Amino acid sequence: MEGATTNICYNLLDRNVHDRKLGDKVAFFWEGNDPGDELTVTYRELLQRVCQFSNVLKSQGQKGDRVSIYMPMVVELVVAMLACVRIGAVHSIVFAGFSAESLCERIMDSQCSLVITADGFYRGDKLINLKLLADEALQKCREKGFPVEKCIMLRHLSKAAEDDLSSQCPPAKRSCPDLQVPWNPDVDLCWHALLRGASDVCEPEWVESEDPLFILYTSGSTGKPKGVLHSVSGYMLYTATTFKLVFDHQPDDVYWCTADIGWITGHSYITYGPLANGATSVLFEGLPTFPDVSRMWQIVDKYRVSKFYTAPTAIRLLMKYGSEPVQRYKRNSLKVLGTVGEPINPEAWQWYYTVVGEKRCPIVDTFWQTETGGHMLTPLPAATPMKPGSATFPFFGVVPAILNESGEELEGPSEGYLVFKQPWPGVMRSVYGNHSRFESTYFKKFPGYYVTADGCRRDKDGYYWITGRIDDMLNVSGHLLSTAEIESALVEHAAVVEAAVVGRPHPVKGESLYCFVTLTEGATLSGPLEAELRKQVREKIGAIATPDYIQNAPGLPKTRSGKIMRRVLRKIACDERDLGDISTLADSSVVEQLFRDRCLTTP
Ligand code: PRX
Repeated sequence: MEGATTNICYNLLDRNVHDRKLGDKVAFFWEGNDPGDELTVTYRELLQRVCQFSNVLKSQGQKGDRVSIYMPMVVELVVAMLACVRIGAVHSIVFAGFSAESLCERIMDSQCSLVITADGFYRGDKLINLKLLADEALQKCREKGFPVEKCIMLRHLSKAAEDDLSSQCPPAKRSCPDLQVPWNPDVDLCWHALLRGASDVCEPEWVESEDPLFILYTSGSTGKPKGVLHSVSGYMLYTATTFKLVFDHQPDDVYWCTADIGWITGHSYITYGPLANGATSVLFEGLPTFPDVSRMWQIVDKYRVSKFYTAPTAIRLLMKYGSEPVQRYKRNSLKVLGTVGEPINPEAWQWYYTVVGEKRCPIVDTFWQTETGGHMLTPLPAATPMKPGSATFPFFGVVPAILNESGEELEGPSEGYLVFKQPWPGVMRSVYGNHSRFESTYFKKFPGYYVTADGCRRDKDGYYWITGRIDDMLNVSGHLLSTAEIESALVEHAAVVEAAVVGRPHPVKGESLYCFVTLTEGATLSGPLEAELRKQVREKIGAIATPDYIQNAPGLPKTRSGKIMRRVLRKIACDERDLGDISTLADSSVVEQLFRDRCLTTP
């Protein structure tokens, strides 16, 4: 489509309102953290809001600017992202569970000129003072010589002034005595005040097909997150088509994807894919376990959800409570169930299929990545015979292959590296600001192929089974974490000389974080030090990266050339004595000691 121009916001909103006459159709049923906090937004209303906010953004910046968005799951998050792309600005959404340090790193890497945030939000009973974190990030940016001039803050929990009722999501009904809303008049701008008087007419900025659409950071195996850059037309086409076919989208569907928009699943399958199809979606701010473990099914019945998309970790979490909380609700509106983010174990698949879907609903196990933009391997509902735990076959136009270590393509039943042999519209176009990292990460190991970094098995019927990452990444609750990033957060503590992090299987999270730390001479791993180390990682990265186990390692198993043998550490973490070949180990007594001192408690 090179040479053509378009605007993705126009395709998502204007075209649906004006050409397809869907103005009165509900775009989002917003369901807040607390049951009873709710709101309905039609396509026409969404278009109006986006145009107003686009005019606000135009007065603050221009096409090509990068805008960092650090917001909870509220309608205004969608408004902010679509307003960016309407004026040709590039959004970089940072999941609101990331720390101030992570936000600062991302703002600086993509050189954002504006940050959009909110006062705070609740996750279950826990208050998150988001503006406080955003301010901390901006302070860090300033200290590092990158002052951001503007920060727009939405009042979500605190009430705006009486005449400032421009917020879409009503303030939470509960009182928030612990909410802190620091205000820096030199930088901060009020979302509501800016909108007052803003026109709801805004001509979209026509952009080139290959212009950048957004940046989304994903963990990198070297520790530094990569700014995955997607471009306009290919991503639009790919998310729209995969959404339509993989969920068998029908005009009267109510679709619900439980992901957070801060991750790629939310970008592609809450905002872009569904809106491109004129779909009605549920946008959920809360947690599957709040106020109780039947919340998901209560929401399914409330909105008569027909297509439901979630992660294996959520299924495993709910499975622990048995079928009763599910069966409290009818769920007879459900037609298709989806999963994404990590391999789904056959037990969880069976529970999802039999208990949640009552064997009526096909399950689409969708394998894809931040980098791929949309689904790559997936069944098509009711058309592809399913095998529990397999993402089955490639989507149209996707050509997978399995390679061995020497890069030879394997035929028939085989296991090896999963790669893709030809490009597809949604493939990322670059790592923001570092094109050579893009080339070396994805195309260097096996020239001519896109490397997923996942292991994969193909069975005799041609079904693909993802076996997990084969780089130093861990998948905790469907979130990819870099071991190197966690290790560097740990060694920044004065008491830690060296750290090595490995995954240990976890019944709900998929993997848990098992950290080995070598301490400075004289230091001991006491309770308070462990707590400090956990805090350190939370502050550097975010709560999702909090170590589960920390073990004192007076020495780490290394090869004679000094490389840490993670394979051995993984065995120690799992208490598996069969170590295989350890002839390259420099000092095998270290291993014995580590086995003796293993962490036995479950976190
Ligand atoms: O290891 C694969 C796993 O998640 C990785 C991509 O993570 P991320 O970029 O954060 O995107 C997650 C949402 C698309 C993959 O390399 N993964 C994702 N979906 C599946 C999966 N593993 C097995 N089965 C899946 N359905």
